[in-house]
Amino acid sequence: MGIPIYYGEPPAQLRALMERLVFCTMPYGPGSYFSGKVNAGFVYTMNAPRKYYEDTLRPYLNNVENLFKLALHGEVRSYASCDTLQVNDYSLYDMSWFSESDKKQHRKEQFPADLKECFNMGAELAA
Ligand SMILES: Cc1cc2nc3c(=O)[nH]c(=O)nc-3n(C[C@H](O)[C@H](O)[C@H](O)COP(=O)(O)O)c2cc1C
Repeated sequence: MGIPIYYGEPPAQLRALMERLVFCTMPYGPGSYFSGKVNAGFVYTMNAPRKYYEDTLRPYLNNVENLFKLALHGEVRSYASCDTLQVNDYSLYDMSWFSESDKKQHRKEQFPADLKECFNMGAELAA
């Protein structure tokens, strides 16, 4: 699943999926209605740098990922693509907090590695 970070959290669609998916596997008692095993890969994307992801977002995301683990009984892995290039031309928008040249350099140097990591994660989870 590709999950952009909006206002410091995953978007409402992930929450909606989690509520419906987890609820239908869980009785109000011990055990589970689901006897299968499904692995899941989470790919987060965000403007923020990796340090913010690790220090601030991870605790909340751990809770979300643990719920999927509990419901699906599989492995849950995640990867974060940080400091993303949000638009191609920053001069067209009011985005003065960001340096377009830094963003473009990061895109050129880091994004191909991010794609490779995500591809490998998906392949391992599906194997
Ligand atoms: C409504 C909205 C809110 C956002 N809030 C954040 C945020 O809180 N932190 C962050 O790092 N990036 C934030 N972003 C940037 C996105 O996480 C970033 O562009 C991401 O790489 C891809 O999202 P997109 O496919 O919607 O462009 C926000 C983007 C949008 C559209």
